[in-house]
Amino acid sequence: TGVCTLDIGLMNTGICKSSITYVNGDEGILRYRGYSIDELVDNSDYLDVAWLLLNGDLPTPGQKAEFQHNITYHSMVNEQMVFFLRGFRRDAHPMAVMCGMTGALSAFYHDGLDIFNADDRKIVAHRLIAKMPTIAAMAYKYSIGQPMVYPRNDLDYVSNFMQMLFAVPCEPFKLNPAGVRAFNAVLIVQADHEQNASTFTVRSVGSSRANPYACIAAGIASLWGPLHGGANEGVLQTLNEIGSIENIPAVIKRAKDKNDPYRLMGFGHRVYKTYDPRAKVLRRYCYEVLEAYGKKDDPLLKMALELERIALNDDFFIERKLYPNVDFYSGLILKTIGIPLSMFTAQFAVARTAGWIAHWNEMITDPAVKIVRPRQLYVGSDFRPFVPPAERT
Ligand code: CMC
Repeated sequence: TGVCTLDIGLMNTGICKSSITYVNGDEGILRYRGYSIDELVDNSDYLDVAWLLLNGDLPTPGQKAEFQHNITYHSMVNEQMVFFLRGFRRDAHPMAVMCGMTGALSAFYHDGLDIFNADDRKIVAHRLIAKMPTIAAMAYKYSIGQPMVYPRNDLDYVSNFMQMLFAVPCEPFKLNPAGVRAFNAVLIVQADHEQNASTFTVRSVGSSRANPYACIAAGIASLWGPLHGGANEGVLQTLNEIGSIENIPAVIKRAKDKNDPYRLMGFGHRVYKTYDPRAKVLRRYCYEVLEAYGKKDDPLLKMALELERIALNDDFFIERKLYPNVDFYSGLILKTIGIPLSMFTAQFAVARTAGWIAHWNEMITDPAVKIVRPRQLYVGSDFRPFVPPAERT
């Protein structure tokens, strides 16, 4: 009939039942499978959390060892993917490359894949979690003209990702343990966030029973946008544009101007109407890593803190409950540990992969699942007779 309830941006529509992540936006609570984000960040590594999201419980030591083995087993990509990579412009944005390359995995793993078979789904999960850092690092190395670095299975997941990004064949590679800890924290807080735009995209594409690698590529496309995962890149761009503390009031003024679409990146959230719990935990790691890297007096951090202070005391931000979100502090940590700006969203995609697959699994095994097919309120022209070309004005 075309009659439906209009809910632009799906602000008030639940699209599924889920037991993966709990978010309470008023109180600023985030839990994965019941565990608070703070405890997870301080006591686990990214693979513990990936296992938790996928399986519902923290892994036993035996399960963790097996998972670690399976992930390292799948960490390389088919060498033919290198030819595919070389087809991109040499300065292509790593997110464009990741989108394409992850979609291309479906060309390798399609025939014979039964998405209703639990073992097949398990291999999909292992392959994606294992290959995503490799693909992200390949995209980065390509964009700067350096040789790709193969994964090292003797390293943990986060350290391996860092070595693929930073190692070069001509000198020994060293890891800073504080950097690994902080990067681990960033990856954990980014691992899932219930029905955000990209997770909804993965569920939505998956609801047509599409190839799961293609579903994740769709999630990556959604994450790329500046209002979603692209905001961490935006935070650093904003700080660079501000340049120095005296210019902050002008930027705040601009963000408040109703006639200017400009927004202060790293502030505000659809669900959190208080301090984002992810920003709170990352704030701690941000200080630790700045100290460890000898950058405690970094002018950029001083500017970020002043920006936060001014915004938190400004009526416009107070009335609209606009607090720093996850991207505010993740951006600062990533910059400190040397992750280039162009890789900010790409590393977010690596982290979110575990959440995307957990949701895809939950969706595909839900007996109540239906293809996503929203309605619309049609506001176009009423019926009118066809006009032949010569009579058109
Ligand atoms: N700067 C200035 N004004 C803002 C901002 C901001 N960052 N965020 C929201 N507002 C204003 C907005 O103009 C509106 O004002 P009014 O009621 O007078 O029209 C009001 O606050 C409500 O904003 P909204 O756009 O209706 O809220 P939303 O829930 O649709 O948007 C958001 C949420 C995250 C897209 C938005 O806050 C935003 O654009 N933030 C900046 C981008 C950003 O940091 N994104 C990362 C989000 S967290 C990680 C992730 O999802 O990936």
